[in-house]
Parts: sequence; structure tokens; C-alpha cells
Amino acid sequence: MIVITGANGNLGQLVVKNLLQVIPANQIVAAVRNPEKSDNLRALGVEVREADYDRPETLVEAFKGAEKLLLISAVVPGERLRQHQAVIDAAKQAGVKFIAYTSMLRADTSSLNLAGEHQATEAYLKSAGIDYVLLRNGWYLENSTAVIAAALAQGTIIGSAGQGRFASATRADYAGAAVTVLTQPGHANKTYELAGNHAFSMVEFAEELSRQAGRPIVYKNLPPAEYEATLLGLGLPRMIVDVIVDADIKSSNGELDSSSRDLSQLLGRSTTPFSEAIRVALQS
Ligand SMILES: NC(=O)c1ccc[n+]([C@@H]2O[C@H](COP(=O)([O-])OP(=O)(O)OC[C@H]3O[C@@H](n4cnc5c(N)ncnc54)[C@H](OP(=O)(O)O)[C@@H]3O)[C@@H](O)[C@H]2O)c1
Repeated sequence: MIVITGANGNLGQLVVKNLLQVIPANQIVAAVRNPEKSDNLRALGVEVREADYDRPETLVEAFKGAEKLLLISAVVPGERLRQHQAVIDAAKQAGVKFIAYTSMLRADTSSLNLAGEHQATEAYLKSAGIDYVLLRNGWYLENSTAVIAAALAQGTIIGSAGQGRFASATRADYAGAAVTVLTQPGHANKTYELAGNHAFSMVEFAEELSRQAGRPIVYKNLPPAEYEATLLGLGLPRMIVDVIVDADIKSSNGELDSSSRDLSQLLGRSTTPFSEAIRVALQS
């Protein structure tokens, strides 16, 4: 049996749906913070169990009978290491034999502020004495397509990424890789640097969006302080703004770029190009 934590999130739901293509529903447990909001998962035929990273007493029970577990990283910076440790401790107690963890690209050397907790989680997991696999996910393509509606309204995309390149991939691609390592042999104690095959700068992203939308959209690079103030002015929470601005600044030094082909190798196909993600976003 395979347990997916954070299963009600965007990535978790995609993992559950992809897993159902490979193994029967009675072999899958969706572990969620809030079972009352999980009818969508129950409708897929999988068992839903409560597993709140902040309530360790729910975790051992949720992981009972599991052979493998996918730990989808938690959300709130500063809280995450403690939460991940609670999941790993509970998995050990429940007798889980294999933990896959969604880390971040080059977590061991990355200068992104997000890297520290991933690094510490990886170290904790490695010392737990359970087979593991590190899925070092790169940036989501959806982080870029999320700005399309505003870009169409305003004719600009703003950021502080400069010429930085994003080797992003869709959540669906990362979910596919997770399913491969959870269901195929040979991945124990491996580390995968997962990134898209088709890196782009935000200038190129804006050019492709212009081409597909049939109207001019330009990328406007802002000094980080101005970008930060603009995002805060739009009402985005400070926690999110800090992550976005830090990532943009560091991307200009290549931190979100990668030539790794681990993701396409795990998928057995090329990753989704940004032009395709734009096409899908424009249709929705
Ligand atoms: N690579 C990237 O570009 C990128 C971007 C954003 C996030 N991430 C990371 O990737 C993870 C998965 O991405 P996503 O798009 O699926 O994020 P998401 O849609 O926000 O889902 C996160 C899930 O974590 C659950 N969660 C939060 N706190 C929890 C707790 N205390 N106990 C149990 N579950 C908890 C949430 O539960 P509820 O449904 O109850 O809220 C939600 O289902 C994120 O959590 C984050 O670590 C990566």
C-alpha cells in the first residue's frame, strides 16, 4: 500500500490520479489534513485518512499498513522542518519501508531561502534508516502561467528575474516522476534533480504568450524592492511575496535553471514545453 501525504493539494491530487493508472485504488491511501474536504479523493475510490503534520497523533494511525509513503513537502516556511520530521518519525513507527520526499532543485547547494529546510529534511530522512528517494522538484510551470490573466489585462509581466532561465515543469510532470519511483524498482536511496527540458527566460515567456494571444505582452524587469512592494500592494501575503521575490532574484544567477534530464528519464518522455502550458492556460 502507498500513502500520499498532502494528498488534497494540487500535486497530491495529480499523484493520486496518476497512481490509479498503475495500481488499484485499494492500494492507495490519500492522507490529508482535512478529511471533510476530501470528497473529490473519495470519489476516485481511494481511502482517505486524516494526517495533519501539526498533530503527530494522527500520523502513525494514517500510515498504518503502508509499505511506501510520498511525503509532499509542507507549505509554511519556518514550520516545515518540524512538520517533515514528525511525518518521518511516524512513518518509521508505523513500519513504512520507503519514503519519497518532494525536495527542491539542488537543495544541497541552492542559495534560495527555501533550500535550508529541504536540506535539513533530506539529512533527517537519510539518517532515519528507511529507504528513501529525493525528488528534487524544480520550479512549477504553473508559477509562470498563473500570471497570464493579469498579463493579458495589463500587457506586461513583471518580475526581477532579469535574463534568468527557468527549467520549469508542470505539476503533472513532477507527479508522473513520483509515480515512477513509487511503483517501479531501482529507485531506493537515489537523488533526482527534476527539471523541465525546455528552459525559458521571462522575456521568452512573454514573447510566446504574445504570439499565442495575438497581442503584445512585454516582460518588465523591476528592482527587487519595487517588485516586492508591487506584490504586497496587490494583497499577496508577505510569506508568498518573500518566496517569489527571493526566487526571482536568485533565478537571475541560474538557480532555477538546470540541464538535468532526470525528469524526462523518469517519465519516459520529454517534459511539457512552456508553449504547451501557455496554450492550455489560454484555453481554461
Ligand atoms: N516547485 C515549486 O514551484 C513549488 C511551488 C509551490 C509549492 N511547492 C512545494 O510543493 C508542495 C506541493 O505543491 P502543491 O502545489 O500541491 O501545494 P498545495 O496545492 O498548496 O498543497 C499543499 C497541501 O499541503 C497540505 N498541508 C498544509 N499544511 C498541512 C499540515 N499541517 N498537515 C497536512 N497537510 C498539510 C495542504 O492541505 P489543505 O488542503 O488542508 O490546505 C495541501 O493539501 C508545497 O506544499 C510546497 O512545499 C513547490
